[in-house]
Amino acid sequence: MELIISPDPASASRRAAALIAALVREKPDAVLGLATGSTPLRLYQELIRMHRAEGLDFSKVRTFNLDEYLGLGPEHPASYRHFMRTNFFDHIGVDPTQTHIPSGLVNGHVVPAECARYEELIRSAGGIDLQILGIGSDGHIGFNEPGSSLASRTRIKTLTKRTREDNARFFSSPDDVPHHVLTMGIGTIMESRTVLLLAFGESKASAIAGAVEGPITSSNPASILQMHQETKFLVDEGAASKLERSDYYRWVYDNKPAWQRVEGDR
Ligand code: PGA
Repeated sequence: MELIISPDPASASRRAAALIAALVREKPDAVLGLATGSTPLRLYQELIRMHRAEGLDFSKVRTFNLDEYLGLGPEHPASYRHFMRTNFFDHIGVDPTQTHIPSGLVNGHVVPAECARYEELIRSAGGIDLQILGIGSDGHIGFNEPGSSLASRTRIKTLTKRTREDNARFFSSPDDVPHHVLTMGIGTIMESRTVLLLAFGESKASAIAGAVEGPITSSNPASILQMHQETKFLVDEGAASKLERSDYYRWVYDNKPAWQRVEGDR
């Protein structure tokens, strides 16, 4: 696990983009795990810029998103399919048939079948090479709320009151936020070969401190990443503000051999 503290969200997002670009250049058909929310928006903008200005080629890339709201179809403006199309997919020349998001339009007994289908799709793609994560103010990753099994697979979850409030800004009314979602499980996320978790702002500081320096516990689902061999936390000053060892993390990054640093920092 590595912690990289950047002065602001823009520089952290540029570092994340540099890591993804390096992977896509080395493996053009890389399997990317993608996230929604406010946090990855600057990262997607930077990747779009690299596609346009530097010819970064996404035409063979395959993608799997973490989650989707149940009850929202792909055209709903708050659906994650809509979010991904408008903020990323429509601008990078990716093959739309190779972009995967759980269906929000299943219910009843079809839900477990959709979850099993999603897991099988990830498996048959050869697994996820790099998973992008945000983090909830309660430590959730994907929509794995506190208390989620650390071994969980893709399944239906019921959102906490706090997450519904946090996400109300994407809906015309707070009551419109769905109660249920499909989300990759924590076990699913842990099988990704590399993980980049991004977190910005003081509202994420407690969740980050718990995840990085606290005990491994389902009360802070992101803390399981302490057990992942290739995880980088890319945080800004605000999100780093409650870390006890922040001086050490900065010292480590500044004193790494150049080849271990993110391209652009060497
Ligand atoms: P945010 O959400 O990026 O909109 O803060 C993160 C999350 O809930 O995982």
